[in-house]
Amino acid sequence: MENEKRHWPIGIFDSGIGGLTVAQAITKLMPNEKLIYFGDTAHLPYGDKSAAAIQAYSVKICNLLLKQQCKVILIACNSASAAAYELVKEYVGSKAKVLNVIDPIVSYIGNTYPGKTIGLIGTKQTVNSNVYRKKVDALDLGIELKSHATPLLAAMIEEGFFNDTISESVIHAYLSDPDLYNIEALILGCTHYPLIKKQIENYYKGKVDVLDASQIVAQHVKNYLEQHDLASDKLTGDHHFYVSDFTRSFEESTRIFFKREVELEHYPLWE
Ligand code: DGL
Repeated sequence: MENEKRHWPIGIFDSGIGGLTVAQAITKLMPNEKLIYFGDTAHLPYGDKSAAAIQAYSVKICNLLLKQQCKVILIACNSASAAAYELVKEYVGSKAKVLNVIDPIVSYIGNTYPGKTIGLIGTKQTVNSNVYRKKVDALDLGIELKSHATPLLAAMIEEGFFNDTISESVIHAYLSDPDLYNIEALILGCTHYPLIKKQIENYYKGKVDVLDASQIVAQHVKNYLEQHDLASDKLTGDHHFYVSDFTRSFEESTRIFFKREVELEHYPLWE
């Protein structure tokens, strides 16, 4: 008997456009999956918000994604994965599977870098929550995690500053911090950062592996769907994109992040 849920969409959310880097990796790897994307632009940036605020936004977004019959909800934001994953998982219960962007990268680190020193950059919420450190320590593989909060980066990228001299100076200032000395790999712990991956690689001149989670997360979603007989074998309708606040800059950036034209629907979380 065919599992009818197979043709249900995958729900994805982020504070803004960052999660589109993950959405794009998913559509590339699984072209038959339909996506429902929510960018909570009214509350961006999440990285400076309290855990309680991010949890409240995440629950509201999940209500919409559940109404749209999503088979899986992927929290495509490190800040929300750090602050709200456990709560959202409990809230959603058996209605959908909830996945986050932190666990796949931690398991990749465990397989690839046992006994090594790894760096992490991300928002204040992600770094200060210590979620990465706790999960890496739980692996018990002798991995030392050095982390540094880089709060300007997501805002800088949202404003379109990447691949230019402004972004280069900000990146240099953050990466030269002693917190990140002597690392062998660097986790890009924010879904906005793949857009500045090249600049970060240039800074390290090949001496540090720069780990962009989007492909690793997409592979994790694919494995999950296949193992649970939930992978779709045909695309049923186009992807749908919601934003809680509509701005022109968001619409423009959407094209850059997703590498195609997308139609955004305005959906305020609170009326
Ligand atoms: N994309 C979000 C993340 O991965 C960060 C952006 C924000 O601060 O809203 O952490």
